[in-house]
Amino acid sequence: MTKKKLKQIFFPLFNSLFFIFFISCGFGFDSPMSTFDAQGPVAQLQKDLFLFVFWLAVVVFFLVEGAILYASYRYRQKDEKLPVQIHGNAKLELMWTILPSIIIVIIAVPTVMGIWKTQVMPDEEKSIIVDSIGHQWWFEFRYPEEEIVTANELHIPENKDVIVNIESQDVIHSFWIPKIAGKIDMVPNHQNKLWIKADSPGIYYGQCAEFCGIAHALMKFRVVVHTKEDFEEWKNDMRTPPAALNPGSEEDEGRKLFIGNCSMCHTHDSYKKAAYHKEIQNQSNRWEEWKKDKEYSAIVSAPNLTHFGNRLTIGAGLKENNLETLSNWIENPDNIKIGTRMKNHAAIYNSDDQFLTSNEIDQIAKYLLSLKPDRVSVTTYTNK
Ligand code: CUA
Repeated sequence: MTKKKLKQIFFPLFNSLFFIFFISCGFGFDSPMSTFDAQGPVAQLQKDLFLFVFWLAVVVFFLVEGAILYASYRYRQKDEKLPVQIHGNAKLELMWTILPSIIIVIIAVPTVMGIWKTQVMPDEEKSIIVDSIGHQWWFEFRYPEEEIVTANELHIPENKDVIVNIESQDVIHSFWIPKIAGKIDMVPNHQNKLWIKADSPGIYYGQCAEFCGIAHALMKFRVVVHTKEDFEEWKNDMRTPPAALNPGSEEDEGRKLFIGNCSMCHTHDSYKKAAYHKEIQNQSNRWEEWKKDKEYSAIVSAPNLTHFGNRLTIGAGLKENNLETLSNWIENPDNIKIGTRMKNHAAIYNSDDQFLTSNEIDQIAKYLLSLKPDRVSVTTYTNK
């Protein structure tokens, strides 16, 4: 083979390999879901392990491919004679058994150490405990010690160990915050635990990472990492009622419509004392109701909407939370996310005499956006 021919083969091969590498990295090492931009000790450990195995594999790849190419060229057919047969060569057999075994051990040691390190939960006394429950297709977050419940937005302080107790109410989901830790299955009737810790304040992206039905790819959440002080403020916020509404205002009309049409499934007042245990009971009752009649049940499990006006997104992390997106969502959830139980079960979409006018929809949206603690609110953070 001439040098020119070799060049013709090697350059495209080399270029395509690099192209595939960058495609598989999603081009962006700092995109919102990139595991290459680790922002906490758990994600860092997982990233370091990945890169260690990756570069080891790159070395093995070039050695093996190099040997194949060298051998194909060096020992190419020159005449009709059979080459020397190496079947049963003890030296070679030993070499290609022992060498891969050593490589496997080199990979296994840090992997097993990493598993041990991430599976042992930090001291509960010194950690924040959060229960996260997967639902088709949204995330519920409960803080048992603080008796706070919320949905689709996980709030934690910076630089503090957090133990997330992970379960599902319906099917298997998976809990994943790429920049902070990944990922663990959310299984019905079985609790998994995940240790997470974030280095610095900001808004992080979470995503369901296990196929769980039609809206799986649209099952997201946000993680708001606060400074220590802001996290205390947030907890106080969650116990503070919203300001009273002016009777007759658009928001107040919306409140009446919400109570009449939405409040069987959506709780909006978990700032009240003792509301926490009631909400857990309600969510379980809703589930039982839906199980009894999956097609026509008027009650289904639904996200808690306490202080919804402060939420960053709607539809479980899908759109920015504002009057336009929210009205659009209430008008027809299919506009944003297909398959929701809200669309399939709520009377306002399914019963001829209960459809809402666009004015009524706007009033409900304005009411929901008014649901904010009646006190000076916490800092806003930027996306990470
Ligand atoms: Cu939940 Cu995928």
